[in-house]
Formats: sequence, structure tokens, C-alpha cells
Amino acid sequence: MVPCNGGICVQAILCICLGLAGSVTGDSTPKCDLLGSSEKESVMEKAVIQKLAPLRTINFTTTVSVGNDSYVYSFRVCNNVSQDLSSGLIQYNEKSKETVVVGRITDTHVFSGTDWIFLTYRGGDKYDSHCSKESRKAMVMISCDRNTLAGGFTLKSEENTKETDCLYLFEMDSKLACPPEESHLSVGSVLLIVLACLLALYLIGGFLYQRLIVGAKGMDQFPNYSFWQDLGTLAADGCDFMCRSKPRNAPAPYRGVGDEQLGEEPEERDDHLLPM
Ligand SMILES: *[C@@H]1O[C@H](CO)[C@@H](O)[C@H](O)[C@H]1NC(C)=O
Ligand SMILES: *[C@@H]1O[C@H](CO)[C@@H](O)[C@H](O)[C@H]1NC(C)=O
Ligand SMILES: *[C@@H]1O[C@H](CO)[C@@H](O)[C@H](O)[C@H]1NC(C)=O
Repeated sequence: MVPCNGGICVQAILCICLGLAGSVTGDSTPKCDLLGSSEKESVMEKAVIQKLAPLRTINFTTTVSVGNDSYVYSFRVCNNVSQDLSSGLIQYNEKSKETVVVGRITDTHVFSGTDWIFLTYRGGDKYDSHCSKESRKAMVMISCDRNTLAGGFTLKSEENTKETDCLYLFEMDSKLACPPEESHLSVGSVLLIVLACLLALYLIGGFLYQRLIVGAKGMDQFPNYSFWQDLGTLAADGCDFMCRSKPRNAPAPYRGVGDEQLGEEPEERDDHLLPM
């Protein structure tokens, strides 16, 4: 049940309340291959990969000019970025039309902190001359940004002057890297929401019952209509009694005398106002 998976009880209640049948089909499992055979993969890494699943369908590209050369980097999260099924991040040289695989999803490493996720693809094509001709690797720093699912993919730096352990470092923003939002709802608001839900259920259920089973029409379709009418009148009387600063019929002492007398009085007064 994906919609109810927020971990917040209010969401769960709302889900039940609205009767959202959670028949959301989950994403197919990411193709990122972590270290070790599938049952020996790190539980933590698998959890982060699962979290990133919504990004799998997005193509990220960034263009970098170095001298007269222009490189286009393309990146996908746990998905092939070219016809090479294991490629996860590639570099395309627009001048020489050459493509180099910088990192492969078959050699994925990932870890996360409070508001960031660090994704590494290793096993890219080997350097020609630098970095002891080791395999290239791509690192993508994903920072929390609640305003975007994914954006701002850029090359931060390319380290190829080290003897070993060279890397391509990328940055991007995503709300998936954010810590889960804490519920700011107090117990009181939760109770209010539950009450509102129950009221809605009562109204809808009662309405349907009155309409379909009792066969009521018009205002009678509302559940316990006459009771609520009486209650409304009572409440209005109560309010009238409590809130009216001036007595309704001055002077007050007459009120106790009897309603008939009070009722007749205005008639008598009215009589001499009529045109004769
Ligand atoms: C991503 O790029 C590939 C290859 O260029 C293309 O086939 C695919 O439609 C793109 N997907 C999206 C969502 O843009
Ligand atoms: C860039 O191109 C210009 C003109 O084509 C040339 O003079 C220059 O040497 C080139 N620079 C590099 C770094 O290749
Ligand atoms: C990923 O591989 C599939 C199968 O070879 C291919 O059809 C698709 O175009 C590839 N994706 C990209 C972005 O090149």
C-alpha cells in the first residue's frame, strides 16, 4: 500500500477514511547491481536504491566545454543510459563523436546521510594515460531539495591528476534525498481529523441509507433529519438566551405573565395604526 506508507498515522487514517484502495503497482526492481550476490547485498544500500526508484525513468544530461571540446554527460539512475546495458553514466565528445562509459550500474555503491545520497558507479572504461590506466568511476552527490523530484545535474569536478582513485564528481538535487518530514500534527488535530472522518461517514452512510433503503426524498434524505432540526432550534434558542444583551420583549418582567397576553398586545397596538 504505497499511499499509506508515509509512516504517519494521520496519513493512514486518511487513507482508510477516503477508502483509497492502494492498488498501486510498484516499480520493477532497479537494475542497479550492488556488491555481492543478491542475498548478500547490503540492506542499507538496497534501501537507498529503493528510495531512488522514482528517478529511474529520467534522463539527466549536462554539457561541459573544455578548451575547444564539448562533452555531454548523460546519466540515469539504475538504468542503462546507452545501448550498452550496463552503462549508467557516459561521456560523449561532440567533436570526436566518441563515447566513453564513465560508470556502470553493474558496479553500484551508494550511501546516504541526513539530507544527501551519494551514488557511485564504478567499472567505467579505463583511462588512456592518466590515473595508472584504472577504470573510470562516477560519483553523484544528490542533495535534498524539497521543491524538485530531480534537477540541477552538473559536473562538479573531474579529478584525473591523481596517481590512482580518479573520479568524476557530479551534483544534483532531489527531494528523495530529504529526511522524512515530521508530522507537526498534535494529538488534538488527529482527533479532529478522526471526528471529521466519522462525521463524513455518518452523513454519507445515513444519506445512502435514507435514500436507497428508506426511500426518502428531499431534505428527509439527511440522516435523523428531524432530530437535527430540533437540535438546531434548541441551539438557536440557547444562543439567543445566552448572547442577546437586550431582552427580546422589554420590559422583562412581563415575560413571566403569559405568552397569550404578550401575543395579543401587539395586535391591539397595531389597530390604531391602520388607516381608517
Ligand atoms: C531518455 O533517453 C533515451 C535515449 O536517448 C530515450 O529513448 C528516452 O525516450 C528518454 N527518456 C525520457 C523520459 O526522456
Ligand atoms: C581551439 O580552436 C582554435 C581555432 O580553431 C585554435 O586556434 C586553438 O588552438 C584551439 N585550442 C585548443 C586548445 O585546441
Ligand atoms: C537501454 O537498453 C534498451 C535495450 O537495449 C534500449 O532499447 C534502450 O534504448 C536503452 N536506453 C537508452 C537510454 O539508451
